[in-house]
Amino acid sequence: MDYAALLTRAREAALPALDRGRPAGYIPALACADPRSFGMALATVDGEVHGVGDWRKPFSIQSISKLFALALALHHGGPSLWRRVNREPSGNPFNSLIQLEAEQGVPRNPFINAGALVVTDALLSLTGDAGGSVLDFLRAESGSPGIAIDGDVAASEAEHGHRNAALAHFMASFGNLENPVEEVLAHYFAHCSISLDCHDLALAGTFLARHGIRADGSRLLGRSDAKRVNAVLLTCGTYDAAGDFAYRVGLPGKSGVGGGILAIVPGRGAVCAWSPGLDAIGNSVGALAALEDFTERSDWSVF
Ligand code: DON
Repeated sequence: MDYAALLTRAREAALPALDRGRPAGYIPALACADPRSFGMALATVDGEVHGVGDWRKPFSIQSISKLFALALALHHGGPSLWRRVNREPSGNPFNSLIQLEAEQGVPRNPFINAGALVVTDALLSLTGDAGGSVLDFLRAESGSPGIAIDGDVAASEAEHGHRNAALAHFMASFGNLENPVEEVLAHYFAHCSISLDCHDLALAGTFLARHGIRADGSRLLGRSDAKRVNAVLLTCGTYDAAGDFAYRVGLPGKSGVGGGILAIVPGRGAVCAWSPGLDAIGNSVGALAALEDFTERSDWSVF
């Protein structure tokens, strides 16, 4: 397959959409990103990588980190995590508080902020360092030891993180956090603030395409758990746009307000597209357009 040609076409499809998006404004450190930036990379299950545009330019992965935190929490702690977080689409914005009260502090799924805070808390209990665990995993899977947390972004998130603090305190009031709220928030902001590029993120996603097997051949997740994580990505990974994303792209995927979207094609590989301009829901307009074009023109699909 001519991956280079497919990626070039996907970039061309995305370019007219870039002006329609706006960088995340509620985290000031992300607001200055150039909405004209665009990068895209695919990594096959064998570790072959192709890219186009700004695919080697690091960006803030934000909520894409939630998928790695979930996989690591399941690896270290097993299925008991599902007693503390559900796996239903929320149909609400990623930072919404409204369902938590009626649902006794148990978040709808691990990819909205409330769910990711619970996952981060579990990973912190299991490893002693949730942010560091995600960072180490990304370094190992991408083969890029220089990957780091962007301290300015983490500080900006913390300074403007009233909603996440509210979510965490509210869940703590229901007994659904094991660690002090401030520690959970710090680890959550740390893994959201990791910077890496499309090349490294696509490689880091391939463990899910290999049904749970890491780059070094060891197993992070059993085949069933890898299937389950992919299923939750498909149904919940893009929040209240998950239905539209499934319709347009048709792949398990996770977006972040840094403008990245990482999509998984089980058995084939992972694709990462990035452009900082977001739609009203918080998903990258350019990345979405590029992924839609890519799956329309290639046989990288689950359907
Ligand atoms: O907690 C937040 O709001 C951000 N650190 C992450 C949100 C995010 O990326 C939502 N994704 N589209």
